[in-house]
Amino acid sequence: MAKKYYELTPDERLAFLNLTDQAKTELQANQSDSNAQIVENYISDFRVPMGLLKDIVIDGRHVNVPMAIEEPSVIAAANNGAKMLNSGGGIAVKMPERTVMIGQILFHNVDFDTLNQFVNIHQETLFKIAKHAKPSIYKRGGGLVAINVRPVANDDISVDFKIDTKDAMGANIVNTILEAEVTLFTEFDTHFLGAILTNYAMGQLVTVSGNATFETVGGREIAEKIVALSRFSKKDAYRATTENKGLFNGIGAVVLATGNDWRAVEASGHAYASQEGHYRSLTHWTISDEQLHGELTMPISVGTVGGVISAMNQAKNALDMMHVKSADELRGIILAVGLAQNLAALKAIAAGGIQRGHMRMQHRALAVQVGALPQEVPILVAKLNTLSQVDTEKATEILMEMRK
Ligand code: MEV
Repeated sequence: MAKKYYELTPDERLAFLNLTDQAKTELQANQSDSNAQIVENYISDFRVPMGLLKDIVIDGRHVNVPMAIEEPSVIAAANNGAKMLNSGGGIAVKMPERTVMIGQILFHNVDFDTLNQFVNIHQETLFKIAKHAKPSIYKRGGGLVAINVRPVANDDISVDFKIDTKDAMGANIVNTILEAEVTLFTEFDTHFLGAILTNYAMGQLVTVSGNATFETVGGREIAEKIVALSRFSKKDAYRATTENKGLFNGIGAVVLATGNDWRAVEASGHAYASQEGHYRSLTHWTISDEQLHGELTMPISVGTVGGVISAMNQAKNALDMMHVKSADELRGIILAVGLAQNLAALKAIAAGGIQRGHMRMQHRALAVQVGALPQEVPILVAKLNTLSQVDTEKATEILMEMRK
């Protein structure tokens, strides 16, 4: 019997596609045995550039942070933002004493008091079920911490389980516990909708803050413009979306480099950005004590062990570079990078626009795109930097000229 597609080897899967020999060779060169085990129908790894944010001071510690991202200017900007915040003494991190992930059991058409009373009466059993379902997390000092019955709308009710997943991101831990807990709610069977973790990580709400001297941001006038830009994006969803996108340039790049789930982190951030009923920017800049002061608060769910992170050496290497000891520490680092990224963007905008810095970085990608060899790239980029209008045609023409 013919094998199903998912049963084939990566090379056999590639053979199904109508590829040039060069494409096939490149895809094969990027295959890895370990990643082949992670997803279905694996054909190759997709490589993204990884660069370093060299030195950001977080709670007094100098950290080098790996960032994986395709956008050329992001890592340069993060370094720039970090320098400005380091000048003000570095970034401080605040978080709850115990961070928890939340799981939901969802009910509809149910009376709040009846369900609430049921949960109260069965507290002890619910805690026992959790321990029995996932003893390994209890051995590591985690487990179910609290249960809360929360009215959503009319007779829609969520029973929220707060679970300490220690250094794991914890999606599997939470879902395993929830599915075991559901068995106790048989008398509510007709009202039961489903059980799943929430990515709105309100039990992992973290604040980072830092200062930058007027001098490093380009003077008091620029600092005041940054504050005005920050105020603007509290009220305008158009500007807030772009500002948050820039923030997630930095956050997402560290989340990806460490093998974490950037979709979960972004979804949580955007939900928090809308918590007042309209979408706003997540950072907040003011002038305080004759310095520019920035703050960022958002829920962030990441891990340093477990699941895919422990299966991917590249994620472990990235965590090693930062000498990270816990998921809580990683949360602080990621948001610190976000704050630095945001400051660099606001400073560039306030000081006359991002395009100059941006285009210099884009020119490198353009040089590679038109076929420049590594030794030709810096020469071609230097020539492109002197021009006001640059496109593929122009870059190709200069490259050809260089080769004469
Ligand atoms: C570009 O990727 C990100 C920025 O647009 C962010 C911002 O406007 O704040 C520069």
